Amino acid sequence: MSTYYLTTPIYYVTAKPHLGHAYTTIIGDALARWHRLLGDEVHFVTGTDEHGQKVQDYADAAGKSAQEFVDEIAPLYEEAWRRLNISHDDFIRTTEPRHKIGVAELLQRCYDAGDIELDLYKGKYCVACEEYYTDDELDAGDLCRIHKRPVEYYEEENYFFRLSRYQEPLLNWYAAHPGVIVPDFRGNEALGLIRCGLRDFSVSRTSLKWGIPLPWDAKHVAYVWFDALANYITAIGFGSDQPERAAQFETFWPAHHLIGKDIIRHHCVYWPAMLLSAGIEPPRSWAVGGWLLSGGEKMSKTSGNVVNPLDLIDDIGVDGFRYYVLAETTYGQDGDFTYEGLIARYNSDLANNLGNLLSRVATVVDKKCGGIGPAPRTDSPLAIDAESAYTTSAQGWAAVQPNRALDATWQLIRATNAYLEANEPWKTEPGPTVDAVIGDALEALRIIAILASPAVPASSDTIWHRLGLPGEVTDQRLPNAAKWGGYPGGLPVVKADPLFPRR
Ligand code: ME8
Ligand code: MG
Repeated sequence: MSTYYLTTPIYYVTAKPHLGHAYTTIIGDALARWHRLLGDEVHFVTGTDEHGQKVQDYADAAGKSAQEFVDEIAPLYEEAWRRLNISHDDFIRTTEPRHKIGVAELLQRCYDAGDIELDLYKGKYCVACEEYYTDDELDAGDLCRIHKRPVEYYEEENYFFRLSRYQEPLLNWYAAHPGVIVPDFRGNEALGLIRCGLRDFSVSRTSLKWGIPLPWDAKHVAYVWFDALANYITAIGFGSDQPERAAQFETFWPAHHLIGKDIIRHHCVYWPAMLLSAGIEPPRSWAVGGWLLSGGEKMSKTSGNVVNPLDLIDDIGVDGFRYYVLAETTYGQDGDFTYEGLIARYNSDLANNLGNLLSRVATVVDKKCGGIGPAPRTDSPLAIDAESAYTTSAQGWAAVQPNRALDATWQLIRATNAYLEANEPWKTEPGPTVDAVIGDALEALRIIAILASPAVPASSDTIWHRLGLPGEVTDQRLPNAAKWGGYPGGLPVVKADPLFPRR
């Protein structure tokens, strides 16, 4: 059995999650669910990034201690993911002891390798990015290009990670592992950063207390990005002295990372260099997403244009929202969020296509087949549509292109609706002709329920049970479960309320 360790970025706990965070997490959830269907041993981890200047500043503004503040915000993420039906196997908080132990171990290894040295830092820092910038990386007036707000100047003794030593090793490693960053153009962006030359980066602060102390010099706390990136290994037991936790690291590492385009430098340059320094294999892959825009701007706390995903699920349902996020944008590109777009997708793809197909089939079974679903034909014209729906979906998920995967599934939904419209079983006398057509449609729906389940898990379960099928969708294993002919016939089919009422 192959393992599939998938991570999302761990989000800053400065405020409750917004649509941008939900976006990356839902993509991750759908991928995790797809890989479970493939029979992979999946470990899907998300969590919260709780140290650093930014969190300290928000806590100060709220008149709370940093710990009190993060203890209030982190549960809002867990709650949001629960409501969005996110199936993570673990949730890591960087304030947990298991994380602190692993960060200390990683720092120590890089220090012992001679890659961390004391130096004087003089320069500019964007607190919103938690990033150091040189003058040529800033806009006029010392404004951060991402957050359009002034950076801070500071001067203090810092430990530096000798990233400059890793230009050659990183270029060699990437040359030996082509295609590990998708989409390709994002991989080129990362290689461009490395080829431009690498500057050592500070990995500690003395003016800030809210962080993890360096194991050899406790006056300093670890730079928040060094701390945060380590979550990907600490979550699976790196640095643990418990044998079963350490074994988890051996089982699952290296990870598949999902990240936004705003954090390419940290993930595709700093992180593999840190790992190489510590003698750990770099990640298996990075899938880089674009931004969800609202009103043409990146949705972010700092821009003040955030949409709360939980408000949307009140309007459109969890699956309506998940489906929109997965189907509407091309992962890797920016996408514009609009409320009109959300409603339009819901009505066309879910209410009119999938929901309508289920209602039609259940109605005909009820009226013409005595409520018992007939078996499909082995030579159904839909069998070929079902086969290509599976093949193309599998390619879409493998390329981290959920919209392609779902479009392939919806092709089968459209083909099945067209097949019913061409044959009009609702106008035909009960008998073998109706049975044949409706048996084929039931089988198509069985396959659709499986293929759509990474996006709309609760609705897929409902379809599965209404078709009278035994077990659960999540017990199905691909590719076998998608082979034509799995619906046995003779099962009671439930006719009930519309799955996706029109909005
Ligand atoms: O950067 N559109 O956390 P963060 C799409 N703690 N995705 C978005 C988005 C938007 N408008 N806004 C945020 C951090 N995201 C660090 C990460 S990881 C070791 C540490 C998503 O709360 C996107 O995946 O700013 C982005 O990379 C991530 O949230 C950053 O979240
Ligand atoms: Mg951010």
